[in-house]
Amino acid sequence: MTAVGIDAMEIWTGKLKLDLAETFAAEKGEDPEKYTKGLGLFASSFPDAHEDIVTMGANAAHRLMERKGLTPADIGRIDVATESAFDNSKPVSTYIAGCLEQVYEEDFHHANKGERKFACIAGTQSLDDAYNWIRAGRNRGRSALVVATDTALYARGDPGEATQGAGAVAMLVTEDPDLVELSTEQGYGSADETDFLKPNQQFPSVDGKRSMQVYLARMREALEDFESVAGDTHPDDFAFIPYHTPFPGMVRKAGLLGYRHMIRCTEVEDELADEIGRQPREEEFDDREAYEEAIRGYMDDLKSTDQYREWYAEVVEPTLSISREVGNWYTGSVHIARAAALQYAAEEDRDVTGDRLLVGSYGSGAQAEIHAETIQEGWREEVDALNVDEQIRNRYDISFEEYEQVHDRHNHDKSIELAAFTEPDGEFVFAGRGAMDERTYDYVE
Ligand code: HMG
Repeated sequence: MTAVGIDAMEIWTGKLKLDLAETFAAEKGEDPEKYTKGLGLFASSFPDAHEDIVTMGANAAHRLMERKGLTPADIGRIDVATESAFDNSKPVSTYIAGCLEQVYEEDFHHANKGERKFACIAGTQSLDDAYNWIRAGRNRGRSALVVATDTALYARGDPGEATQGAGAVAMLVTEDPDLVELSTEQGYGSADETDFLKPNQQFPSVDGKRSMQVYLARMREALEDFESVAGDTHPDDFAFIPYHTPFPGMVRKAGLLGYRHMIRCTEVEDELADEIGRQPREEEFDDREAYEEAIRGYMDDLKSTDQYREWYAEVVEPTLSISREVGNWYTGSVHIARAAALQYAAEEDRDVTGDRLLVGSYGSGAQAEIHAETIQEGWREEVDALNVDEQIRNRYDISFEEYEQVHDRHNHDKSIELAAFTEPDGEFVFAGRGAMDERTYDYVE
């Protein structure tokens, strides 16, 4: 069977930076370490006054098409994953195609366009749609363009304000990909939950603490479902495990849970038994509460073992380096975690061709999905082409007062004029609204 997966990716960060320790915590009178150590976040990206989900997505897609030497005729579908859409009918993909048509002679009139919504997991669901379309043989040799783009804003004063972010990831899905092949096997953990939602409103209603419990519960269900088709997983099976990363502290919890699950009934559990005992088994307890307390105790002990710490440092920690500088990108978040891990492998000069990733996606509401990926031969060239670190370094560092202006500028209920802080250079920009209140865009050379 021919491999299908991600051939190439490009990342576009919002061009503004809010320093969480120096600027945000200072203004709120909070300990900066709540951000840097507790949540594991240093900064959030924000869109400049001329940026939005369309410009960020179109700019990422344009870079991707230019680098891969593609024209619109090479693309058979454009799927945009977002939970920040501004229109209940016209999909963001039509706006992005419209932007790209300004800079290419051909058009995308024969490409199928759509928009995927399921909180943060929609980016991975769009990859699945593209994968299935190619596997079904409906692509006529063409590739799929998947764009995950979001402006993750919370209401001012909401605890979620600490975990905001904005950016886009464009991915090209093809046969014989250069970056990673996606596994056919997938596992799901899905339930009707009301932990985080936006009932026709821009900023989420969120029960933060509950959302973290739901994330972990659904992720565990998805892992069990994945194992039911792909066989048991073991910590040594995967070079990296990129998770959906609302903030790195969340992944710290998910990593520990995943490790405990994977070592159960293995030689690792046996090796650790002298130091921390064996994992509690539910049948050994009279009630669920006592069992859960015993599990919490075991997890606390497990967290401090050398085996776990070394595994986490090698397999999970490298996935967090971009997230900690940009915050939550919702649909793009798990995809920047993959990119961060591969960048780390390149920096360490490791040859990871043929190695596997276990990818844990999640969306509130709620659903987790786990699949595996196999790193392809062309990975190094693809990763070396990314300029995300340079983009992160070049962001304009906003003061708290400027942050308030930027937040207002992107608040759909306000119409605030604001001069851009950065100079557009070879990119799409928001140009205003047309006769039917549609958003319009220009390409600035
Ligand atoms: P909070 O109440 O501001 O923070 O809410 P906290 O007091 O819980 O502190 C956070 C962590 O920092 C804690 O660590 C503290 O102990 C620690 P933990 O105990 O959990 O390990 N801490 C410190 N550490 C060192 N030095 C200090 C210090 N102070 C505290 N001085 C919360 C945090 C995440 C709940 C909030 O920001 C929030 O509501 N965020 C939005 C919801 C969210 O991100 N949920 C994550 C799971 S759901 C998800 O991922 C889906 C999502 O992406 C949406 C989608 O799918 O579309 C959100």
